[in-house]
Order: sequence, then C-alpha cells, then structure tokens
Amino acid sequence: MTQPTLKLLTPFTIGDVPVANRIVLAPMTRSRAGEGNVVAPLTATYYAQRASGGLLITEGTQVSQEGVGYPATPGVHTDAQVAGWRVVTDAVHAAGGKIFAQLWHVGRMSLPAFQPNGGLPVAPSALADQSNAFTATGPVPYGVPRALETAEIARIVADFGHAARNAKAAGFDGVELHGANGYLIDQFLRDGSNQRTDQYGGSVANRVRFLGEIIDAVVAIWGPGHVGIRLSLPVSRPSLTDSDPVALVTAIAQRAEQAHIAYVHMIQPVAGVMFAAGQPQLAPVIRKHYHGALILNGGYAGDTAEAALQAGTADAIAFGVPFLANPDLPARIAAGAALNPPQYDKLYGGGAEGYTDYPTLP
Ligand SMILES: Cc1cc2nc3c(=O)[nH]c(=O)nc-3n(C[C@H](O)[C@H](O)[C@H](O)COP(=O)(O)O)c2cc1C
Repeated sequence: MTQPTLKLLTPFTIGDVPVANRIVLAPMTRSRAGEGNVVAPLTATYYAQRASGGLLITEGTQVSQEGVGYPATPGVHTDAQVAGWRVVTDAVHAAGGKIFAQLWHVGRMSLPAFQPNGGLPVAPSALADQSNAFTATGPVPYGVPRALETAEIARIVADFGHAARNAKAAGFDGVELHGANGYLIDQFLRDGSNQRTDQYGGSVANRVRFLGEIIDAVVAIWGPGHVGIRLSLPVSRPSLTDSDPVALVTAIAQRAEQAHIAYVHMIQPVAGVMFAAGQPQLAPVIRKHYHGALILNGGYAGDTAEAALQAGTADAIAFGVPFLANPDLPARIAAGAALNPPQYDKLYGGGAEGYTDYPTLP
C-alpha cells in the first residue's frame, strides 16, 4: 500500500540543490576502483540504480595520493579520475538523480605503501590511530604518523580546492567534506588526536580552523549552496576522543552557519546502535546554531526516519546499508515493502555480485 503522506517522500531543497525526496544515499566505500584509482564502469550502474534517492553521496573520494588509505578506492585529483566520474554523474543525471562527491583525506589512517614515495602518513599530531588497517594480507595496526608542519597545511587545503574544482569538471552537483569517522579533518577537530600547539590546535576555535579553511576554499569554487560537511562526533573508538563534544559541535555548526553551506550531515545513530550509550544528542545543538539542512544517519529504517522528520529533528535521512542492498529504497519505503538483506561479504571489492545485482520490486 502506498503511503503518500510520508514526509520522507516530499521534495526539498538542500542548499541550492532541489531534490525529489528526503532520502539520501549515505557515502559508502565499495573498493571496486581500477588502475590509477579510477572508478570502475560498473560504478555508474551502481549509482544510477539508486538515483531515485533525493541526493546520492559518493563513497569517500581522495583529494590526493597522500589522502589514500585503502586499496581500490577512487580519487578525484587526476584527469583520468575526473573522466571516470563523468560517466557516473552522466548516468545519475540521465536517471533523474543528484549526486555529491565526498571529498576524503584519510590522514593517519593510511600506510606507507599508499603514500607518495612510501613516506609516513600525515596527521595533526604524531599519535597512532588505535585500530587496524585492512590490507590484502590481513589486518595491520596503524603506525605513528608524521605531524604536519604548520606551513604544509595550506597545501592540503589547496588539495581539497583542486579536488573540488575537479568534481565540478566531473559533473557533480556539489561536494561533501568528509569530516567524520576519524579521518584527517576529524583528526584535527578532536583533542584526542590533535595536540598541536600552533594555530590549528589547542582551543576549539583553533581545532575547527582547518575545516573552516577547507570550507572557504571549496565554497569559493562551488558557492555555499553546493557544499556540505559530514561529522560523527560521538566517541566511536578509544583513539577518537574529544573532551567536550558539545563545545566542538557548537563551534562547527557556527562555522557552517557563517559560511551558509548547504547542509550538515551528522552520524548520530538511532537507539545507540553503533556508538556507546550516554553520548550527548548533538542534532539539537547543530539546529540551535546552524539553519541550513540537517541530514542524520545511522541505523535508520523508514519508520524511524519518518519519525525524525516529523519531530523536526532532521530535514533528511541518509541510509547506508539499507540503500546499498535496496536500489529502489524510496519505492520500498513508499510501499511499506520488505527489504533485501545485505550481503556483508560483498561490501568491499569484487565485481557486480553484491554491488549491482540486488533486485528491485517487480
Ligand atoms: C560498506 C560501507 C562503506 C562505508 N564507507 C563510508 C565512506 O566512504 N564515507 C563515510 O563517510 N562513511 C562510510 N560508511 C558509513 C556509512 O555512510 C553510514 O554512516 C553507516 O553505514 C551507518 O548508516 P546505516 O545504518 O544507514 O548503514 C560506510 C559504511 C559501509 C557499510
């Protein structure tokens, strides 16, 4: 039975981008890029199949070779990578969808094998992430990164600008800055990973400076209505701590408001499915200081997503695994239909299986 009154299915405008509904495809790495970190031809099929979502956000897409942390993940810093993405954006637009590129630099969550000249991965401070890297030969603990010199930071900001310009050339509708999940921007934001004593460390204002400079660089290319940021402030593992998440998210929301960017996309799961209980609810803090679109993500289903929209907690909801396994997720939510289960062993790497072969409703 169709449920036409669902707010999830109503049109909306995210910044300057009109979207057909409030269902967003969450960014998901699928590790199927080819030689030179160029997206595979099949990737155009994968995203076009999901074009009925109001907004699609790509998998994390590196802004530079230094930003690479995993095998077979795409970039948007070479001409070949731009040409690969052009095929994807054309396919999504032909299917009536909108697509933003998620701009990514992994910082310390990398290995010398991925780095230019085999050097050490870079980070705000020489502190190792306490998790493991996934390699072809199994898990390997991350090493201690090299702390960036103050004078080098402008180069990384410029790399984000270069990637943003390339994303425009590739035909995207906008870009999302990956400030979540412990990667470089997040490493600068949190005082557990940023112990710098220059203007990029110490106070909350100083830790937000790197993100702010990247926002300004990318807004200069795209205009604010085509730029979003993704955050995941609650503590999700031991080396990803912050002593005052409310103060930090307040400063980020104020910076986003000052720049008038299109959206803030926050991973704050429903019902504590992914993060420790007792974390402060940060969506209301963002709402208080930022008046653009708020996208929430993490463990949502159709009913919980609709409840969040009805309560005014969010303007749109991003779905990860449910959308990965259900290319026609909006139609299934509209119909109240059952969902395909995800094939967890096919999330990363491989070909069409578990990627472009999930069935749609008849
Ligand atoms: C296979 C896979 C890859 C992911 N890759 C990314 C990524 O590249 N960038 C990102 O910000 N989040 C990434 N995530 C996190 C998802 O965007 C999302 O936050 C998470 O799956 C929770 O949402 P869900 O419960 O709707 O799946 C990934 C998640 C999965 C399952």
